[in-house]
Amino acid sequence: MDKKYYIAANWKMNASLSFIDDYFSSLDSNSENSNEMIVCPPDIYLQSVIKTAPKFIKTGAQNISSHDVGAYTGECSGEMLADHFVQYVIIGHSERRQYHQESNEEIKLKIMKAIENGINPILCIGESKKERELDQTFDVINNQIRSVLDSDLLSKDINMLIAYEPIWAIGTGLTATPDMANDVHSFIHSIVSEMTSKSIPIIYGGSMKESNAKELLEMEHIHGGLIGGASLDASEFLNIYNIAEEIRNG
Ligand code: PGA
Repeated sequence: MDKKYYIAANWKMNASLSFIDDYFSSLDSNSENSNEMIVCPPDIYLQSVIKTAPKFIKTGAQNISSHDVGAYTGECSGEMLADHFVQYVIIGHSERRQYHQESNEEIKLKIMKAIENGINPILCIGESKKERELDQTFDVINNQIRSVLDSDLLSKDINMLIAYEPIWAIGTGLTATPDMANDVHSFIHSIVSEMTSKSIPIIYGGSMKESNAKELLEMEHIHGGLIGGASLDASEFLNIYNIAEEIRNG
């Protein structure tokens, strides 16, 4: 089976102009690129990344407003992102759900705004430590997907990615084992398959790094990674991307 991988960097609130110059001078375009590499910087650096990054790299924002225009201080609309040729947007990251009280209702609106503006959403879902311990993982995932996605939305001409990010694994150094992650990915796949016949790539996030990327990416239902901490090191991020290249190209 020819499985395309999506290897995405979530820089969160990190970077500077000099960081961007250094990053892309070490990450050169000689790497093969049959898979997709996506870099999501803070909004203020989107332009610098677009200008500096090798052409094969796609750019993504980390958030999008659920409104179109107007008095929403600090927000950035889908139209503005599209104006800057931003191709992806992370939506519903657990840090935004937690620190900015983003609800599933708001996340759905944001997905719709991304789609209206031709930007591919990366929908983040995942359970907390407590929910996993209480054996609620599948219920939480089921609810997060069904309250945001439906067959009408998935029928739109857009490349949606779903990122499974167990909250307890984000930035903690704890990673879901490949089997644990694959089980949830397989479950997500089964729910989404009820809504669409399109194949929706499901990527894993939560302390993915060079040392664990191969075993995770080799799992049947894992189509890539959303990488935070390890993506701040250009060579480590490139190595993860190259691992995906090696797996894909056999
Ligand atoms: P991490 O972050 O790789 O640092 O765990 C992933 C994410 O939050 O997207």
